[in-house]
Amino acid sequence: MPPPTPVLVADAAALDANVAAMQALADAHGVSLRPHAKGHRAPWVAARQLAAGATGVAVATAAEARILLEAGVGDVLLTTIPAPGRAAELAALGPPGALTLVAHTPALVAVLAAAAADAGRTLRVLVDVDVGQRRGGAPTPEAALATAAAVAAAPTLELRGVQGYDGHLQGIPGAAARAAGHAEAMARLDAVVVALSGAGLAAPLVTTAGTATAALAAAHPSVTEIQPGSYALMDHRYAAIDGVAFTQAAFVLTSVTALIAPGEVIVDAGTRAVSTDLGAPLVAGRDATWVSAGDEHGRVPGDVGDLRPGDVLRLVPSHTDTTVVLHGAVVPA
Ligand SMILES: Cc1ncc(COP(=O)(O)O)c(C=O)c1O
Repeated sequence: MPPPTPVLVADAAALDANVAAMQALADAHGVSLRPHAKGHRAPWVAARQLAAGATGVAVATAAEARILLEAGVGDVLLTTIPAPGRAAELAALGPPGALTLVAHTPALVAVLAAAAADAGRTLRVLVDVDVGQRRGGAPTPEAALATAAAVAAAPTLELRGVQGYDGHLQGIPGAAARAAGHAEAMARLDAVVVALSGAGLAAPLVTTAGTATAALAAAHPSVTEIQPGSYALMDHRYAAIDGVAFTQAAFVLTSVTALIAPGEVIVDAGTRAVSTDLGAPLVAGRDATWVSAGDEHGRVPGDVGDLRPGDVLRLVPSHTDTTVVLHGAVVPA
């Protein structure tokens, strides 16, 4: 029987190869690996990453934190600066001590401290530092220090360290340009580490990096942890980045539902099954393209003359992080 489609699946062998390769990179440099789970949202994938040696996982939303905490993952970092309105929910989420949050200002620290007090818990907090992405992290060492001092002074919070995610570097295709940008980003992170240590504030965790900068970050002296995510499943946007050598593991399986012309079929994957924020998906193994034909339909012109309704095509997502949201989570192939 053909599989029910559309569905986002992961090829287990390719996934395991990617998981092993990133773990080997982290191990070779003596840094911890905390895979970002936003691209798979799947406890079964996290379990493979943890079994390979990851020390915890990272997530991007409260919903993802809930999925992984409820699945029993004991160390989850929510990497996004939380909205104040989420503080009460987050403070009470999962077993005590399992969730770490980030904060960028003393004002947010005060909100988190109060929420932790209401929940009767101590919350772990990292200072989120802007290393060039301009997405809200503390923009200067002084701002980061003020935030860290506020965390350290709050009886219901525990200062765990700093996060400096370099998202602005991940899409730079050339290795030399990316390395130059990375040196600047790490200089900004290092200035914060020095400022905290000068003030006597311990920051044992220094976490950073995505798939395209993991190797650079792992080799950087002050970094203690890397948090890449896309390497596990991959997508064709990342495959085009120089030096990112992981195997495509995620595919959207889609069925042919109608024949329109000798060189054109309709499939059951539209924009509610594949994301297009970073371009259209590719059609694996065929000289054909996918074009949106609406929410539930895709149009595939090209080398498709042999296909019949019910035949299944594999689409390679352009951006797995946004495609997975359309499916809930990735499932085994
Ligand atoms: C804060 C943070 N860390 C790590 C990652 C993982 O990056 P990548 O998927 O590029 O490996 C992301 C991805 O968006 C992120 O937002």
